[in-house]
Amino acid sequence: MKGTSECLRQQGMNKAQVNHTHSNAQLERIVKKMTTTMQDLEIIIANQSENDILNRLDNSYKEISEMTEDDRSFINALILRNKPKKILEIGVSRGGSSIVILNAVKEIENSHLYSIDYNQTWYRTHDRQTGDFVAHYPELKAAWTLYTGGLSLKFIEKIGPGIDFCLIDTVHFNPGEILDFLMVLPFLKEEALVVFHDTKYNTYCYKKNRRFVENGITNNMLMSTIYGKKYVSSALSFANHSFPNIGAIKINSDTGKHIFEIFNLLTIKWNYLPNNEEEKEIILFFEKYYDKIFVDYLKDVFLHHRNYFEIIKLEKEGQRKTVKYWIIKLGSKLLKR
Ligand SMILES: C[S@@+](CC[C@H](N)C(=O)[O-])C[C@H]1O[C@@H](n2cnc3c(N)ncnc32)[C@H](O)[C@@H]1O
Repeated sequence: MKGTSECLRQQGMNKAQVNHTHSNAQLERIVKKMTTTMQDLEIIIANQSENDILNRLDNSYKEISEMTEDDRSFINALILRNKPKKILEIGVSRGGSSIVILNAVKEIENSHLYSIDYNQTWYRTHDRQTGDFVAHYPELKAAWTLYTGGLSLKFIEKIGPGIDFCLIDTVHFNPGEILDFLMVLPFLKEEALVVFHDTKYNTYCYKKNRRFVENGITNNMLMSTIYGKKYVSSALSFANHSFPNIGAIKINSDTGKHIFEIFNLLTIKWNYLPNNEEEKEIILFFEKYYDKIFVDYLKDVFLHHRNYFEIIKLEKEGQRKTVKYWIIKLGSKLLKR
């Protein structure tokens, strides 16, 4: 994928503007100025000793990592500063982010990472197991439990409550992470940190990525909607005049009072439909953890999106039939000549 700077150049910024970077000290001054009045936002600048811990990892995992250096150092710094004991990761791929977390966790006594992935095999080619690359780091495996082959609701009760750090990096399209977050919320500790990746998916502005611009809104919406203190990464976001692509929210006792805002996001256009079996499982699971009013809301949401998908399907079939009719009509006219 092309870089953000190229994207900005396409938007008309000149090379000097785009390549402008700040020293750490300059960056800290800018950030301080910006955040003195913002109690609900913290910009994370990883320090040298935090990055040294990340950099002691053998580099081979970078080949399969689906995150930038900045994203990885954001996660690493957040873990080292908050020392979570029970960590949940949803969305594993080959294990790039798992490796970063497991490496940081070595600094924390009795800390454990539970990872969940919908797919048993790697989602891109299905020719290897999900999380396979962690095997290259055998010294990290003792603190790791991996569950694959289903939505979070299938494993979360086994993992249990008291999660104090959670990375959600799954679909990036609706309903994706909205449902994932609601599945784990009842299992999060008060003051848990929830990290979302690809929060600027909707600003990837290349022609071939129009799908992202139009639909990759999920994680950005969640960053704005979930109630709590927000943390964003500095390096990409401000030094390169771009938007943060990774962020976290520290939930608190008021997050649950703002739950309607999250359920309400589910009415916004979906890009895929969970299958009927999954819908049943989701409703049954939500009945255990959410008030009836929200479960009923969710049932209506499913109904709405199923109807909408059906309408779109019928419209497309109708368009195909019309085109076919005109081709046949034109063909027979030409034959008569
Ligand atoms: C973008 S990749 C994760 C990348 C990984 N965090 C990393 O940094 O290397 C997304 C992963 O989420 C998984 N996935 C998609 N939807 C999911 C869901 N609802 N619950 C759990 N996993 C999901 C996919 O199988 C895929 O492995």
